[in-house]
Amino acid sequence: MADVMDNTVSLCKRKGFIFQSSEIYGGLNGCWDYGPLGVELLRNIKETWWRAMTYREDIEGLDASILMHPRVWEASGHVDNFTDPLVDCRSCKARFREDLLSDEQRSAGQCPTCGNKEVLTEPRAFNLMFKTYVGPVEEDGSRVFMRPETAQGSYVNFLNVQTAMRHKLPFGVAQIGKAFRNEINTRNFLFRTREFEQMEMQYFVRPGTEDEWYEYWKEERWKWFATIGIPTRKLRWCEHEQLAHYARAAVDIEYEFPFGWGEIEGVHNRGDYDLTQHEKLSGKSLKYFDDASREKILPSVVETAMGASRACMVCLVDAYHEEEVEGEKRVVMRFHPRVAPLKAGIFPLVKRDGMPEVARKITADLRSHYPVFYDERGAIGRRYRRMDEVGTPFCITVDSQTLGDETVTVRERDSMAQDRVPIADLRDQISRRMEAWEMPLN
Ligand code: GAP
Repeated sequence: MADVMDNTVSLCKRKGFIFQSSEIYGGLNGCWDYGPLGVELLRNIKETWWRAMTYREDIEGLDASILMHPRVWEASGHVDNFTDPLVDCRSCKARFREDLLSDEQRSAGQCPTCGNKEVLTEPRAFNLMFKTYVGPVEEDGSRVFMRPETAQGSYVNFLNVQTAMRHKLPFGVAQIGKAFRNEINTRNFLFRTREFEQMEMQYFVRPGTEDEWYEYWKEERWKWFATIGIPTRKLRWCEHEQLAHYARAAVDIEYEFPFGWGEIEGVHNRGDYDLTQHEKLSGKSLKYFDDASREKILPSVVETAMGASRACMVCLVDAYHEEEVEGEKRVVMRFHPRVAPLKAGIFPLVKRDGMPEVARKITADLRSHYPVFYDERGAIGRRYRRMDEVGTPFCITVDSQTLGDETVTVRERDSMAQDRVPIADLRDQISRRMEAWEMPLN
C-alpha cells in the first residue's frame, strides 16, 4: 500500500501535477506547488464543489480577505484554543504532537524518531496561527494572523450578505480560499500542509432547527463525492468524541488513504457560538430581523468544511492504478472526466499525408471548450500510454481512413476500446460520453 503513495507522489512530480515548494533551495516543509496538470485538477474539484454548493437559491458565494481584524480570532476562540500539545525530544531535538504519540510512547516518554526513553518534555500548548504585521512597524499593535479557516469571514459578513441579497433563514454562505496553519508535523504529501485551500459553507438556520439541517448536510456532502468519482466504499463516517471549542456536534467523512483512514471533510453543528462571540467582541448586533414574526433572531450555524487540497490528494491516490496489458505495465490515472486535467489527446497516426493538419484542426475546435493535448511524437502506443498516465479519458487518432471518410478513432482510457466517430459529431459525442461516465462507486 505504501507503494501507491510513493508511486503517486513520484508520478505527480514527473507529470507536472505537484512540485515541492522552492525545490531548488531544498524545499519548504508543508508547502507544495500545483504544476500545469495539478492546477487543472484542483480547479475542476473546486468548480464541482462551487456548482454544487452555490448554484442554488439558498447559498451565496463570498471571497473574504485572508488577513482580518485580530479581534476576530479572539472572538472565534482561536487565540486561546487553537493549539496543539507540543513535545520536544531532549535527545535528538525532534518535535511532535503529544496527542499523536502512542500510549506506550507517551507513558515511557519515548521519542518516535530516535527511540530513546524518558527524553520527551512536558507538553506545551502551541498556537497554530501564523502571525505577521500590517504596516512598517513590527509591534504588538500591528500584529495580525493569517486565517486558519475561511469560516470567520462568512460569520463577520453574515448580515452584509443577508441584507444585500434579501435572504430569509435558512441560507448559507460558501467560500473557497487559502488557509494557513503552522502544523507541528506536516505529513503525507498534501494531507497535512501549512498552506492549503478550504471549501467551506456556513448555513445559518433558525435556532432549534440545527439538528435537522445537520442531518441534511451530512447526506448532501456524502453524496457529493460521487460527482468527483470517489467510490462510497472508500468513505466512512467518524463521529467526534472530543469536540472542537466551537462545536455542539461534529462528524467527519473519512477516506481510506494508502496510509489509513483520514478526514477529508467535517460537518459541524456550531450552534450560535460564533455569532454570539462576534456580537460580544465587536459590540455590534448580528441579529436577523424576521419579517413574519417581527422578532430579532440570532441564527445557529451548520458548517460543512473540507480541504480542497486534501480532496485533490484523494482524487490523485484514488485514481492511481497499475495493470498489465499485453505483457507490459500500464499506469493509468482513472480520474472522473469531470476532474481530469485534460479531456482528450489528439494524434495524427503519422506525420504526413495531411494528417497533422486535420488533427490540429480538431485540437483547435475542442480546445475552445476544454483542455486537450496534441501529440505527434513517437509510436501511437506510447502516445496512448502518456495520456493514460495523466488520466485523459479520450484519445482521438487521425489515420488514413480519416482522409477518405472524415471519421477518426476514439479510444476510451479505461476499457481501451476504440470506435470510429465522424469528425462532425466529435464534440457532441465526447461531451455525451463524459456526462454518462460511470465509475464503480460501491
Ligand atoms: N472551519 C472549520 C474547520 O476549519 P477543520 O476540521 O479544522 O475545520 C476543515 O478543517 C478541513 O480542512 C479538514 O477536513 C481538512 O480537509 C482541511 N484541513 C485542515 N487542516 C489541514 C492541513 N493542515 N492541511 C490540509 N488540509 C487541512
